[in-house]
Amino acid sequence: MTGSNIVLVGFMGTGKSAVGQRLAQALHRAFVDMDALIESRAGKPIPRIFREDGESHFRDIERAVVRELAKKREQVIAAGGGVVLDQGNIREFSRSGLVVCLSASQEELVRRLSGSTDRPLLKKGDHAGGISDLLKKRQPFYDAIPAQVDTTGLTVEEVVSRILVML
Ligand code: S3P
Repeated sequence: MTGSNIVLVGFMGTGKSAVGQRLAQALHRAFVDMDALIESRAGKPIPRIFREDGESHFRDIERAVVRELAKKREQVIAAGGGVVLDQGNIREFSRSGLVVCLSASQEELVRRLSGSTDRPLLKKGDHAGGISDLLKKRQPFYDAIPAQVDTTGLTVEEVVSRILVML
């Protein structure tokens, strides 16, 4: 895996950013948080991009950022939860390195996302319902990624160790 990227995908709340940061430290690589990069490109936070420009505009920026990141090497990238919806994104990332899908049980996702206020796709006041609906639609896309780590009940360090043995 020398030089290749490591790209973390998975549903919101699976720990992509926390695990990515720690993994990047362990490997002495640059860490890239795609959501933060999208926000700096758009000049506004994600909820405002969704509200003012719509989800399809967000997906356009996301796609452009994938293309750009896939050209570089030696990064640990935490992607947004919806990156898997475009197979072109996954093709680009797979060509640039190892794509690892993080998952967690629905109960754990509901728990981890309970305080979240910055995720426009989670219904206000009904996180459990929103998570369940989205998961139903997205599960096939997440399942299609060959490298998987179930993070349910694991600490960030434990998830990092599991990814390190895959490299
Ligand atoms: C999204 C997940 C978010 C962010 C945006 C859309 C999704 O990222 O990209 O709100 O479609 O699942 P996280 O998975 O980092 O929360």
